[in-house]
Amino acid sequence: MTGDGARGTPRPPWPAGAEAAQQPDWATHPAYEPSCAELASAPALVTPEELARLRRALAVVAGGGAVMLQLGDCAESFEETDADQVRAKTAVLHALADEVADGTGLPVLRVGRIGGQFAKPRTLPHEEVGGVLLPAFRGHLVNGESPTPEARAHDPRRMVRAYEASAGVLGALARERDQRTRRSTEFVDGPWASHDALVVDYEARLVRTEGGRRFLGSTHLPWLGDRTRAPDSAHVRLLASVVNPVALKLGPSITAAELGEVCAQLDPYGIPGRLTLIVRMGAERVPGLLPPLVAAVRDAGHRPVWLSDPMHGNTVREAGRKTRRLTDIVDEASRCKRVLEGAGEHPGGLHLEVAASDVTECLGGKVDGVDRLDERYTTLCDPRLNPDQAAELMRAWVRA
Ligand code: PEP
Ligand code: CO
Repeated sequence: MTGDGARGTPRPPWPAGAEAAQQPDWATHPAYEPSCAELASAPALVTPEELARLRRALAVVAGGGAVMLQLGDCAESFEETDADQVRAKTAVLHALADEVADGTGLPVLRVGRIGGQFAKPRTLPHEEVGGVLLPAFRGHLVNGESPTPEARAHDPRRMVRAYEASAGVLGALARERDQRTRRSTEFVDGPWASHDALVVDYEARLVRTEGGRRFLGSTHLPWLGDRTRAPDSAHVRLLASVVNPVALKLGPSITAAELGEVCAQLDPYGIPGRLTLIVRMGAERVPGLLPPLVAAVRDAGHRPVWLSDPMHGNTVREAGRKTRRLTDIVDEASRCKRVLEGAGEHPGGLHLEVAASDVTECLGGKVDGVDRLDERYTTLCDPRLNPDQAAELMRAWVRA
């Protein structure tokens, strides 16, 4: 179903003419078509009933009756998907969410960057390691992180492994939700799954139809990153075609006109909670750039959840490491909250990269100097907050 038969010219799984940025280079790999076919016949990992519940909960957040925390690894690892590891990650999510619930007096919707967060967009397609030019690491769905040509080759069989790993994680999340859902069927607080719907080969083959409704079977809440959210792109068309709630990252280059176009494509009927808009501008830029975007979205009739991702716009290099300062992160999150409140909008919550263990990847709290970054710098991609740093951010954000 996926190719035209001639090796080397497979038909992409998206509408002719639509561009898909940031895609793996693997269409001529002998395992490409069998891997795609395996995904196409696999069961969906989420159900339409789950999506309906999450949409109801997001509508409550959009209306100001709850807040949302979306967090987890920058890049999930195939090696960290067993039940104990999932429990360790959701335990951090719940602890932070409980802190926000205490501070705000509102229920907190809990969403992980989990159960499929295996693909990364990259600014540069290559990196130099020890004088050798290698393809960049793009997440375990695409290649391996080891700095060798073999590990970095794009391998479509990884899509099948990603699906299998996700299936295990999503099963664990479903069992947790069942335990948490004692009374409320209206506001099921999670934990729900989300990931960057980056690799179109993977996502498009997990679209399913049930009862006449098309849904993306790979996750509850797919998001599009700042590099893949162009109006009319293959990514936007794919998410426009499914009933899952969808999220978009908004970086500093987006204009009100462009945001208006993409919102019109994804949310033509202005359904509360259909859209989650994740602001990641950089602490300095939020006050200047955000107000016209908020006005444009509201004037066009959308009722999104507004989240702040205070991390991706504040990445710096120190001592040869990518890092982020907690002070910048607190600043961006607080400014975003104040801009939204000033515009009469509900500050819907935070989107964060947080590790389940005491990593030393961001500066702040006990990580009190660049010389400490090497101690436990274990991320596969971007620097994550450790749980203590994240708790400090929660307290600051609640007060801001
Ligand atoms: C990310 O969330 O890890 C990411 C790459 O974000 P963005 O698309 O906002 O750069
Ligand atoms: Co990241």
